[in-house]
Amino acid sequence: MINQGFNVGKTYSGFRSYETQRSLYQTYANSDGHAAADRYSARAGHSEHQTGLAYDFTDKSGRLLEDKAAADWLSHNAHKYGFVIRYLPGKEAVTGYMDEPWHVRYIGKEAEEIYASRKTLEEYYGFDGGDYEKSATTLQPSPTSIAPKGVYTFTKRSSIKAEPKMSSLELAYYDAGETVNYDSVLTSEGRRWISYISYSGNRRYIAIS
Ligand code: DAL
Ligand code: ZN
Repeated sequence: MINQGFNVGKTYSGFRSYETQRSLYQTYANSDGHAAADRYSARAGHSEHQTGLAYDFTDKSGRLLEDKAAADWLSHNAHKYGFVIRYLPGKEAVTGYMDEPWHVRYIGKEAEEIYASRKTLEEYYGFDGGDYEKSATTLQPSPTSIAPKGVYTFTKRSSIKAEPKMSSLELAYYDAGETVNYDSVLTSEGRRWISYISYSGNRRYIAIS
């Protein structure tokens, strides 16, 4: 883009640690309030910048890239290099953030198809976004600790599955108050699962968060 004469600088905002994101969000929240800051800045633990897979383009004066010609070129070409523009105009209810023409996220070869679909990552992959309350139930592991093996007492009706996936069929279930001997704990699809070998000799999985 620089060689083609676009107003793009060599500096960029890439990886951020949890602490950097925390203090950045706090600065915005202090000046604009939490509700306004939530529309353009991620709370610590929720920013793609913390993954190292995202970065913000800047212009030659070091400001976030808003230059129309440069942003347009990027929006139509980033996918050729494996990137998607993560926060598209008109998608705030889905992504949780206002339009950010400067923020790209590395995906890989699927970026081509995602670009062609005109969908956000939430829509393309079918995961929740846009709301911390809604996302909290599906994307974050439970903070409660559990022994690596032992006896688990169910606190609610829980599906027994052949794979640790919410889309895996319910083979049977446990009711609240029932117990099971489990031999391992794992995290899958952002949930905590316990696992054991059933009487039939097959491994079973139950989401507990
Ligand atoms: N500005 C984006 C949403 C972030 O803070 O990660
Ligand atoms: Zn960004």
